Amino acid sequence: MSAPVVVLAPLPLVLPRGAERVELQRDHARRAVRASARATGASLGELTKTTDDVPLPSNGWFWSLSHSPAHVAGVVSPLSIGVDVEEAREPRPELVERILGPAELELFAARGEDGFLRTWTAKEALLKEFGLGLQALSRCRILTVDHDSLELRFDDLRRTVHQFRFGSTLAACCSDSSERPTFVLHDIPLPLRGVELAS
Ligand SMILES: CC(C)(COP(=O)(O)OP(=O)(O)OC[C@H]1O[C@@H](n2cnc3c(N)ncnc32)[C@H](O)[C@@H]1OP(=O)(O)O)[C@@H](O)C(=O)NCCC(=O)NCCS
Repeated sequence: MSAPVVVLAPLPLVLPRGAERVELQRDHARRAVRASARATGASLGELTKTTDDVPLPSNGWFWSLSHSPAHVAGVVSPLSIGVDVEEAREPRPELVERILGPAELELFAARGEDGFLRTWTAKEALLKEFGLGLQALSRCRILTVDHDSLELRFDDLRRTVHQFRFGSTLAACCSDSSERPTFVLHDIPLPLRGVELAS
């Protein structure tokens, strides 16, 4: 089985506002999923979800996507998979407390890192692999921290979440495989219909 390909692409600097913007981001993330499928040799059909928003396998291929204000990420895999992309931000203290437990903070402090963005993206990617929302956040615990991966426990299961940093943005990918995915960064936005690209 070849390693999954996580396709990352920037959003154009100039986007419409409101619902139109959200629709464009979601469309763009689906282009990233299809680009991952092409890179993987996967033949995808329709991309549909459950009523809870969980992506349903398409022609037997699992898929996951994420949209941040400035980037999208998409991936396909024969195994259940989750992906997340986020830009660095200054977190509110109550959010840090919600995301990171004291033992986890200690793991990052020992490395001279605050760990917020790494934990946020890793737990989001893991929850997406399992098709769960934030109500399951307390079931995820970080066990070890490496420079580009984290080991997490989820109930009685263990997962390696692989991470890729570019600029102030961090992407994370989680599946039931310790094999590192390939992270591919498209420097230019994937074609977006009807949107003026900022020069
Ligand atoms: C919905 C959630 C899965 C991700 O939300 P998010 O980070 O705001 O959004 P992302 O852009 O990364 O991901 C959204 C995509 O995840 C997918 N998704 C939504 N719910 C999902 C679920 N239960 N399982 C798997 N995938 C899911 C969908 O494809 C969705 O995109 P779409 O609506 O265009 O189809 C959930 O974890 C959440 O509500 N997060 C809010 C942010 C937060 O507080 N995070 C805490 C960090 S641990």
